[in-house]
Amino acid sequence: MKPYTIDFDLLTGICKSGKVQPVQRRVSQMKMQFADPEAAQKAIDSGDPVLYEFSTLLNDEKKGTLAFGSTIIYPGKIGDEYYMTKGHFHTILDSAEVYYCLSGKGFMMMETPEGDVDLQEVHPGEALYVPGRWAHRSINHGTEPFVMLFVYPGDSGHDYGTIETKGYRKLVVERDGKPVMIDNPKWK
Ligand code: PA5
Ligand code: NI
Repeated sequence: MKPYTIDFDLLTGICKSGKVQPVQRRVSQMKMQFADPEAAQKAIDSGDPVLYEFSTLLNDEKKGTLAFGSTIIYPGKIGDEYYMTKGHFHTILDSAEVYYCLSGKGFMMMETPEGDVDLQEVHPGEALYVPGRWAHRSINHGTEPFVMLFVYPGDSGHDYGTIETKGYRKLVVERDGKPVMIDNPKWK
């Protein structure tokens, strides 16, 4: 493999050269992850908006490589729950990840299999270190797109199944115009 460069816009995170194609996730792909599936269905019926998109350079996905890219979580809510990513553990559980916020603001909701929970707010110019073993989900509680760059070991893999079946222990919802962390009533 040869060295290369790639562009990511400093504010929007978008790769304008088209060297990497974004993957979009819409409400219909995450209906059951939201606390209020009826609100999710309503959003699906009225155009199925894009919740977030991310552009990842996977490189070889071998030990020693790095995968990296940008992620954009759009502002909005499903019921009183903010737009968010699916979230995942890494398949190689102890694989860490670094995020760097370019614009907007948001939370990273994290939890370990043992039940530790951590919520960090990130702003432009701040980096977040997600240690191995911590599942991670980005949540946009702001009014602008929440944009981050990320880097993780190329062989990490994504385990979505655990979060899809169990959900996260905690959710972030809006109460009186402010974000609050609550217990997930559907957590198994
Ligand atoms: O590896 C990461 O954590 C990111 O690249 C995410 O994959 C990206 O933000 C999209 O989230 P998810 O993979 O949970 O849908
Ligand atoms: Ni990850």
